Amino acid sequence: MDLRTASLRALLLLGLCHAGRRTLASAPGIQAQPRRIAVVGGGIGGAAASYYLRQEFGAAVKIDVFEPGTIGGRLATVKMGDYEYETGGCVIHPLNLHMKHFVDRLGLSQRKDVPSKVAIFDGKELVFEESDWFIVNFIRMIWRYGFNIIRMRMWVEGVLDKFMRIYQYQQFGYSFSSVDKLLHAMGGDGFLALVNKTLEEAMMADGFSQIFLNDFVAPIARVNYGQSVRINGFVGAVSLAGADSGLWAVDGGNKRVCSGLLYHSKSELIPARVTSISAKLRPSKTGTTASFYEVNYVGESGSAHSLYDIVVVATPLHEGLSDITFSGFTPPIPSHYPGRYHQTVSTLVHGKLNVSYLGTTEAASEFTVSDVLTTDSEGSDINSLSSIDPVHIPPGYKRPPASQAKVWKVFSPEPLSQEQLAHMFLSWDSVSETRWLAYPAYRPPHRRTPPFILHDRLYYLNAVEWAASAMEMSAMSARNVALLAHHRWYGQDGKIDQEDLHTRLRGEL
Ligand SMILES: Cc1cc2nc3c(=O)[nH]c(=O)nc-3n(C[C@H](O)[C@H](O)[C@H](O)COP(=O)(O)OP(=O)(O)OC[C@H]3O[C@@H](n4cnc5c(N)ncnc54)[C@H](O)[C@@H]3O)c2cc1C
Ligand SMILES: *[C@@H]1O[C@H](CO)[C@@H](O)[C@H](O)[C@H]1NC(C)=O
Ligand SMILES: *[C@@H]1O[C@H](CO)[C@@H](O)[C@H](O)[C@H]1NC(C)=O
Repeated sequence: MDLRTASLRALLLLGLCHAGRRTLASAPGIQAQPRRIAVVGGGIGGAAASYYLRQEFGAAVKIDVFEPGTIGGRLATVKMGDYEYETGGCVIHPLNLHMKHFVDRLGLSQRKDVPSKVAIFDGKELVFEESDWFIVNFIRMIWRYGFNIIRMRMWVEGVLDKFMRIYQYQQFGYSFSSVDKLLHAMGGDGFLALVNKTLEEAMMADGFSQIFLNDFVAPIARVNYGQSVRINGFVGAVSLAGADSGLWAVDGGNKRVCSGLLYHSKSELIPARVTSISAKLRPSKTGTTASFYEVNYVGESGSAHSLYDIVVVATPLHEGLSDITFSGFTPPIPSHYPGRYHQTVSTLVHGKLNVSYLGTTEAASEFTVSDVLTTDSEGSDINSLSSIDPVHIPPGYKRPPASQAKVWKVFSPEPLSQEQLAHMFLSWDSVSETRWLAYPAYRPPHRRTPPFILHDRLYYLNAVEWAASAMEMSAMSARNVALLAHHRWYGQDGKIDQEDLHTRLRGEL
């Protein structure tokens, strides 16, 4: 190597350090605004990220959203006959304030409620069937489980109360640099301990009985996460909250929130798959070097690349979900983080149920149960079986009894065979199967949670799913990442990872 190239390298390196220092130390006003931001993924996470990035960075920044598939990702619908039905994420908790805000902001509405009725199936028979009379249910439950049932409500409320603190923090612009710091800000060491042990351990330690866990908690974990009471305690609490009353869905389909947010945020949708992201340096007009991210992508019209100041990855970086190569980063960023996603197959069947399959002697015309949950036992090869309603409830709609052909949704870990279908249904005329890598396979105590910050201005929203996967979790993470990106860009360190926010903000709202 000759001297000239050597000194040029030295100069470049110097420039690099210099530029690096400057970005870190830059004060508000000195640092110019970012010009271009990329969001990878058009699910609720990516859509919410573009909405909050627009809110934080203002009208001038160009936001590109990359999505090769259907907008909505794991929020998806399929058509059966004349109507559309949810096949992915379906219910939203009444206290999911981000989802509520989106629906209000976008002028959408909640789907009309159709009363539901739950039963629990152990693979042979129905071990519990909800009555139409609240008092009957109440007495049955108390008879069987003592006060476990009431204490469970309080246990879940305790977690939910702390979870709700995030809304106030975010309202005041605070953000967190890791999933652990975010959890700690909401629920202190208690939350960190909760994600690090199983739901079973957590509830047993709090005095819940094994029989209550088997009969009642496990079926809820199975319908919501396709897994047992060995999921982590935090996602377990989220799952139990999913058995509260007042759950809702978006009229016309949950995925409408995603397209609505993309439109509202004036982002440009690029229908392409991102293949790689690399760190690039480019001399700027002022003589220093500026660093960019080069996003390479493949769409219908071939492959291309663009440069961005900030990139938000809003898809899980796991086997089978996305294959993005990261190059030019030290330390290196992996394409896939450790841990895998759990498969849940969602099968929609338009047909007549074989009620004897459920071991009941009730006449099909009298059978009005809408949600059959299952216990974690030998005979249960399905996670749940539900009679589902269209994404938009037509006027005068009434859920038909099991004697009529209607749409059922089966969640199972493996696709249903023809024999299984023939056993469960007397007849059917259409079947639609979706195989989801649905949510993480939770195995606490867990190895390190993936980071929110992959590099200086490169963020990873779906790291949050390792605490719990839900629409609201992605939305909350999207707002956190938008705030984090903003504060790090402008050097506003006082808004990142603040301790004791709960005490400090008390009485502020
Ligand atoms: C069957 C099922 C039931 C569920 N039930 C509920 C429920 O009742 N309530 C609830 O709150 N949650 C539920 N969930 C979880 C919820 O759906 C998810 O947590 C949430 O939708 C995740 O949103 P996301 O935007 O973070 O990820 P995703 O929706 O997965 O979005 C990621 C997007 O990125 C795109 N993408 C991937 N790779 C690339 C690439 N290389 N370049 C560009 N784009 C890429 C994908 O096509 C996808 O659209 C359920 C999930 C499933 C599967
Ligand atoms: C309905 O289920 C019962 C109980 O599993 C089974 O014996 C019967 O054969 C099924 N009916 C049909 C028509 O498959
Ligand atoms: C989680 O548990 C593991 C193993 O028991 C431990 O090493 C780790 O420190 C724990 N993490 C937290 C955040 O408590």
